[in-house]
Amino acid sequence: MRKKLFELYPEPIPTFDLILPAVRDWLDAYRGSLNDFLSNEDDWLLVNRDLNGRARLILPERIKESEQRKLWDSLASNLMQRLGKHAYPQNDEILFETNREQALQGATSYLVDGFTNVWIVDRLATEANWARIAPETESVPRIVFFSIKGGVGRSTALAATAWSLAQEGKRVLVLDLDLESPGLSSALLPPERQPMYGITDWLVEDLVDNGDVVFESMVATSNLSHDGEIHVVPAHGADHGEYIAKLGRVWMPKLRADGTREAWSSRLHRLLRHLEDRIQPDVVLIDSRSGIDEIASACITELGAKLILLFSLEGEQTWNGYRMLFEQWQSAGVAQQIRERLQVVGAIVPELDRVGYLAGLREHSYEIFVDTLYDEIAPIKKGEVGPGPDGAWQVGDLSEGWSFDEADDTAPHHPWGVNWHRSFAGLRSLRGRLAAIDAQEVDSVFGALIQGVSNAVDWRETS
Ligand SMILES: Nc1ncnc2c1ncn2[C@@H]1O[C@H](COP(=O)(O)OP(=O)(O)OP(=O)(O)O)[C@@H](O)[C@H]1O
Ligand SMILES: [Mg+2]
Repeated sequence: MRKKLFELYPEPIPTFDLILPAVRDWLDAYRGSLNDFLSNEDDWLLVNRDLNGRARLILPERIKESEQRKLWDSLASNLMQRLGKHAYPQNDEILFETNREQALQGATSYLVDGFTNVWIVDRLATEANWARIAPETESVPRIVFFSIKGGVGRSTALAATAWSLAQEGKRVLVLDLDLESPGLSSALLPPERQPMYGITDWLVEDLVDNGDVVFESMVATSNLSHDGEIHVVPAHGADHGEYIAKLGRVWMPKLRADGTREAWSSRLHRLLRHLEDRIQPDVVLIDSRSGIDEIASACITELGAKLILLFSLEGEQTWNGYRMLFEQWQSAGVAQQIRERLQVVGAIVPELDRVGYLAGLREHSYEIFVDTLYDEIAPIKKGEVGPGPDGAWQVGDLSEGWSFDEADDTAPHHPWGVNWHRSFAGLRSLRGRLAAIDAQEVDSVFGALIQGVSNAVDWRETS
């Protein structure tokens, strides 16, 4: 396992990465007093890390004038001493707020392990929220195509999956959410079929309550499949208009008449529900942006996806990227809410030594799943007998948890391979290619992916 900064250096200078370890040390050192002070159900403590990366405490207003105040002041200054430049100055170490919701103001927060009412609050300059995971939607299954690096064949694979599911008679809704480098819709729609508007137009019009005007003209049907339907919502319309000026505004939250704020990702979610109501698809395929970015964050954590495909090319860049993401879920305590929906896809598996390549991919993928998302395996299986830590024979009482063997082909780390194929190299030909291709060829390249997606969707429910 990777060594952490504070394990490598015995007396580290407090930098950003040491804020949380310092907070945890402080919480552990004063656990008893803190639990006493916070013994009522309506007590709470927030450790707030602000936009500049300075930390301080937020406590209920009533403590301000109470007898406890002195003790909290000394606890707070003890924490500040551990934080160096990341501390708040004296007299500003505690902020008092009437209630917790008000103090949060929609920021990311998570409960600290071992406490029932201590939260870490993290305020970011972006709208991305990687630590709040929306539950899976109960209506139409949504499948997100994501990759940590770009240019790995994600959009091509999505187009092929849409085509294949439609060939089987399914009604497929495809969303191009790669707003900053759109391209999927041109792979599925010839120029004369492009709709007048796209997702960017709706997000901008919605800010001035004008979304309905573009809604009816932002979906087109692809003529690629014979039996089912592919409905495509592009990033922009046939005439992209002032695309950059619009793109710079899609992230805007909307202020409602009652003064509440709707984050851009909630607006996107509202659009998606509206589209699903109108089109009644069997499945929604979403081309997310690559990398750790705001759109990707919305697609992965906030749209209630059933399946999140993690396109992966073998290499350190891929695995370092996924590790960052998984560690964030682990430390925010949300790993359990998302891990069962993840699936690694081996992107553009080279022709030469496919088996060896996929084995390497699987090995590295397994490493990070084990380190971050899988439960630790019980040393002795539940109900079975084996030697315990002291050498004496014991009956296992821990359940096995959520974990898989490296070779288990049903595991999320076990890559579904998409094969490199000459005919899919070169984006321009994709539409023509899908128009002329036979199912067998698509199957030989994308079969594992298409089968996997198909298995993940309960068609009886949707049809
Ligand atoms: N299975 C495949 N075999 C060979 N080449 C492929 C395959 N899939 C995609 N490609 C090629 O790889 C390039 C990138 O594909 P694509 O645009 O689908 O990737 P992407 O991950 O969506 O990229 P971006 O991050 O830019 O959106 C294209 O030139 C495409 O033709
Ligand atoms: Mg793409």
